[in-house]
Amino acid sequence: MPLSINGQTRLIGFFGTTYKTSKMYAMYNAAIDALGLNCIYVPFAVDDLQKATDGIRHLGVAAIGITIPYKTDIMLFLDELDGDAARIGAVNVVVNKDGRLIGSNTDGIGALRALREQAEPKGREVVLLGAGGAARAIAFALADAGASLTILNRTVAKAQELAEAVGNGTRYGGVDALPQSCEILINTTSYGMANTPEVGQSLVPPSFLHPDMTVMDIVSNPRETRLLQDAAAIGCKVVYGYRMLLWQGVYKFELFTGVEPPIAIMEQAMESMR
Ligand code: ATR
Repeated sequence: MPLSINGQTRLIGFFGTTYKTSKMYAMYNAAIDALGLNCIYVPFAVDDLQKATDGIRHLGVAAIGITIPYKTDIMLFLDELDGDAARIGAVNVVVNKDGRLIGSNTDGIGALRALREQAEPKGREVVLLGAGGAARAIAFALADAGASLTILNRTVAKAQELAEAVGNGTRYGGVDALPQSCEILINTTSYGMANTPEVGQSLVPPSFLHPDMTVMDIVSNPRETRLLQDAAAIGCKVVYGYRMLLWQGVYKFELFTGVEPPIAIMEQAMESMR
């Protein structure tokens, strides 16, 4: 990809502790290249978040992707939050609109889009495992989509708090209170993730799964979590965590550039990152 930088090049940056190891540069820059946009997506090593955020304004940076540990803290330094960012209480993209910094969150719509590749949640019994930041984004999106939602979490008080925030008759409980009526199961916890003690394990007993269920895991490393292996073996439809990663990135790209994302190119770039 020959770089062609000039005085009109728009800078899109990334704030997050994983800036050195993130693999998303390839995906966004492949999309930029395919569309012939005069943009570049680059890492920033954030030291002081407030000053770095001011830097977006003062340097005329076009947009920033935000990840851990800044998704909540950055809200303090922005001019505006869109509806999703405000209710989720976290931001994963900031757009510089003529000097005004506007925070958005694409995690919920990204997860919903990934789920819809296999199952439509409207009117279905959906169980969300977890009540952290990702669960919050996904819970609101599912409620908007008309799902009948149950939130189960190790710390039940957090499940209760999220269920009450979402409203719509959302139920809650502990992770062992899996309801038999479940049609779509989504793991939003870090259980089963690489580099944790629970890698290779699942929060869900295989005996709970049945072939008519759709099972989604937002953990993307490893791609085949134990939960998804168990689900696929039983004949469930499965939704891999990398599909959410793709779609939240597709929606981010649209906010970064204001241009319709080249989905096939982004998908191809993500596959080549494996
Ligand atoms: P994220 O932003 O990725 O959602 P988070 O806000 O730290 O991360 O939330 C992590 C979620 O994984 C929480 O629901 C957490 O449960 P608690 O609220 O009880 O802490 C869940 N989680 C993490 N490790 C877990 C484990 N070993 N067993 C069960 N749940 C776990």
